Amino acid sequence: MSLISCQGISKIYKMGEVEIKALNNVSVEISKSQSISFIGPSGSGKTTMLNLFGVLDKPTSGTLKVIGTDISKLNYVERAKFRGEHLGFIFQNFNLIPVLTVYENVEYPLIMVKSIPPKERKEKVLSLLDAVGMLDQKDKLINQISGGQKQRVAIARSLTTDPKIVLADEPTANLDHESAYKVMSLMKRLSREIGTTFIFSTHDPKIVKEVDITYTIEDGVLVNREERNN
Ligand SMILES: Nc1ncnc2c1ncn2[C@@H]1O[C@H](COP(=O)(O)OP(=O)(O)OP(=O)(O)O)[C@@H](O)[C@H]1O
Ligand SMILES: [Mg+2]
Repeated sequence: MSLISCQGISKIYKMGEVEIKALNNVSVEISKSQSISFIGPSGSGKTTMLNLFGVLDKPTSGTLKVIGTDISKLNYVERAKFRGEHLGFIFQNFNLIPVLTVYENVEYPLIMVKSIPPKERKEKVLSLLDAVGMLDQKDKLINQISGGQKQRVAIARSLTTDPKIVLADEPTANLDHESAYKVMSLMKRLSREIGTTFIFSTHDPKIVKEVDITYTIEDGVLVNREERNN
């Protein structure tokens, strides 16, 4: 089964009288356990695409199924529930909670979304911190760690609820090249090890070399698909 099945989707933003066609008749099938990047110039439609895949928005026309669910049939509340149960998110500006520790930030979605026993919760958080190499920093506050480390914490947080898909809009944009590369390699390794599919957008051509499949988007149209055997 495709994780994301997208047939002829278009997205039009209406601003008063003006209509902006951000996506134009896009079709794409994304299957399990691949790392996928979307690249393209500013304004080409990358964020719009990821917002649709992340069930944050609906297409204007066309069919979009995420993990087999037709998302245009879901209302606002159902979409939020769907996101909480099936999807993980990583943000450009990390979106971590500064007054909480590294450990508490990763634990947070588990408290909010799933009712699991405290012992199991602790094991889960510790194993994720270990997986992203942040176990020894677990008691630090967010403002005591570097940008690259913040993004590793955010990756751990995105995985706490065992999502099938993690979406990340320019996750390395605020990182220096070396940290960006490390974050990228980490997502790639985790996608292999735990079978989560990472889908992200980027401007950085060097980062694109690390992922399995890269789509190029221009003016709301997919113009190229490139697959690599890394
Ligand atoms: N909420 C909105 N309302 C109106 N127009 C929008 C909205 N969001 C995006 N657009 C427009 O849709 C087009 C695609 O924007 P989008 O943000 O998806 O591009 P992008 O590829 O992510 O660009 P960037 O690389 O700068 O982040 C652009 O023309 C943009 O101005
Ligand atoms: Mg964008």
